[in-house]
Amino acid sequence: MSIFKDIISHLGNSWNDFEAQMRLTLASDVNLLNAINDYLLKNSGKKIRPAITLLCAEATGGINADAVKCAAVVEMLHTATLLHDDVADNSGLRRGVPTVMNLYSPASSILAGDYWLSKALELLTEISTSGIIKEFTIAVQKLAEGEMFQMEKATVLDTTEEDYFKIIGNKTSSLFVAPIRSAAMTNGSSEETATALTAYAENIGAAFQIRDDIFDYSPELRTGKMSGTDIREHKITLPLIGAIRNSGRSDILDDFSSMKEDMLVGKITEFVIANDGIGYAQSKLEECIRAAIEALAVLPCSEAKDYLEKIAIYLKTRKS
Ligand code: IPE
Ligand code: IPE
Ligand code: MG
Ligand code: MG
Ligand code: MG
Repeated sequence: MSIFKDIISHLGNSWNDFEAQMRLTLASDVNLLNAINDYLLKNSGKKIRPAITLLCAEATGGINADAVKCAAVVEMLHTATLLHDDVADNSGLRRGVPTVMNLYSPASSILAGDYWLSKALELLTEISTSGIIKEFTIAVQKLAEGEMFQMEKATVLDTTEEDYFKIIGNKTSSLFVAPIRSAAMTNGSSEETATALTAYAENIGAAFQIRDDIFDYSPELRTGKMSGTDIREHKITLPLIGAIRNSGRSDILDDFSSMKEDMLVGKITEFVIANDGIGYAQSKLEECIRAAIEALAVLPCSEAKDYLEKIAIYLKTRKS
């Protein structure tokens, strides 16, 4: 995790401004909401999206007040999606602590998610660079579509590799694309720069989710989340798609309708490991990382650009 420490110290006051902006925006008169907000702020995550947002702003000309707001917006939207996602996935553990839905209730998690979402939207209206609201609106739409498409596929159990990339592009890359494009917009960047940064964002977003999906098959890693959740929820992700490809055995999917959850998690995890589904997913992830790094070529040399490259490399082996 030391890469984030370095980045935070490199970003200095801009990072402090981002943190202060988030705290200021979230304050509420409702005690229950404040208690949940404090819990979420105390048990925060990696904050990779705001870090990348600020670095992209720096790499394209400099960090201004709008870029700081974009960083706060994306972290709040991300937190809102996690509050909703944990209910959708019935997840009891996140960041090594009980989820809000586990500690309070599923309804509290949904409503706190709505609050974080609405606060992000409110802050968006305070951004003066035009076009940024549209970027984030598209991201929220894509997120919902990605989650719903994933749900549809979990019922039919016919997720192809193409479907999988469509799902993760929508549910995960969208929250990298919007703030990164917005950061470039705060500096009035050229279309060429915006296009290159979009490719960077799409690829690191995909790599980020593939690694997360590998975690779900890696009970030995201490990620702060429960492994086996995707199988329990019948989500077919890249490690399983890869294992089916490597073995030619799609009949393994029959077990999803016939086996009890715990047995199913054990059997599918074993199948994925035995047929090198993890290796398959990891090699696709590395393709995405290569494409992300290539996309950075249009940026002039800077410390921020170097950090953007380092983040891409870190995503190959991240353990949480
Ligand atoms: C988790 O995101 C959700 C995914 C898109 C896989 P993060 O891993 O960024 O979550 P935190 O905020 O660091 O806990
Ligand atoms: C990513 O998928 C969640 C969102 C994009 C909202 P997961 O459901 O795999 O994320 P985790 O593993 O719960 O963090
Ligand atoms: Mg989910
Ligand atoms: Mg989840
Ligand atoms: Mg996951």
